[in-house]
Amino acid sequence: MGRTISETLKSTTEIFWKKDIESPRVEAELLLGHILNLKRTELYLDSQRVLSSEQEERLKRLVEKRLKGKPLQYVIGETEFFGLKFKVDSRALIPRPETEILVSKVIEYFKKEKKESDHLKIIDIGTGAGNIAIALAYHLKNSFIYAIDISSEALSLAKENAEINKLEDRIEFLCGDLFASLEGKNLEQKIDAVVSNPPYVKKEEKDILPKEVRDFEPGVALFVKEGLYQKIIDQSVMFLKKGNGILVLETGFNQAQKVRKIIEAKTEFASTEIIKDLAGIERVVFAIKR
Ligand SMILES: C[S@@+](CC[C@H](N)C(=O)[O-])C[C@H]1O[C@@H](n2cnc3c(N)ncnc32)[C@H](O)[C@@H]1O
Repeated sequence: MGRTISETLKSTTEIFWKKDIESPRVEAELLLGHILNLKRTELYLDSQRVLSSEQEERLKRLVEKRLKGKPLQYVIGETEFFGLKFKVDSRALIPRPETEILVSKVIEYFKKEKKESDHLKIIDIGTGAGNIAIALAYHLKNSFIYAIDISSEALSLAKENAEINKLEDRIEFLCGDLFASLEGKNLEQKIDAVVSNPPYVKKEEKDILPKEVRDFEPGVALFVKEGLYQKIIDQSVMFLKKGNGILVLETGFNQAQKVRKIIEAKTEFASTEIIKDLAGIERVVFAIKR
């Protein structure tokens, strides 16, 4: 007789706990839920169900991968962002919950301006798995997004995610450095929002990153090249609409004030705002073009 869901959860949690996995119970629930195709709460409603030997075998393989340090989302191969499903693998960064703040701010702004149903044009620089672009396209029903990345691998994953979420007709994926791939598209002064969650970890901070981030997520998505924010801000000016185009940038720990200063040094922007995440960290810089 095989083990029940309840017994399996208990022993998997113990294995993770002994190996110092940060949230052992939650990770055990997510892994088992993935294998059984059940939501976390459903595991408890069906706690006496017995696992088949095939399910036990799959769980064992996934637990082994996790114990080797592979992030849970890569082990499972998917994650949730802004209530939507995303495929994730080593081609792109795992979407982080704090990036949902940027997405909320953009949607909230266009709702407040009563423009959420307009034919908005949005540029997402460094789209990665496509999470920001796809979440915006989903919630701003008539928008069109130009999703750009320097990594063709990340873009191939982003395209798959657009198809999974049935939004491929409303997003154009472009490969290139910052805004370069938009040349000749006649988008100057026509963009309602430029959004970006660029790489923002300094190379010298590599050693303080958690091992599972440093060893498994793509370096091009993590490590910033000097002057990247300045370049995004400078080049965004050319594309944003006069009067109400918005620039919304995610920043790393202790970086928001510096980024705000770069924006405020430019006469093209009328106002700026900093939004904190749930941990009280300044996370997003928001600016409106004059
Ligand atoms: C921090 S990740 C963000 C991914 C995704 N937008 C998110 O929020 O989860 C940064 C992304 O920027 C891309 N990138 C880095 N340098 C770039 C550049 N010069 N031009 C365009 N994209 C770049 C990386 O390949 C990576 O996918």
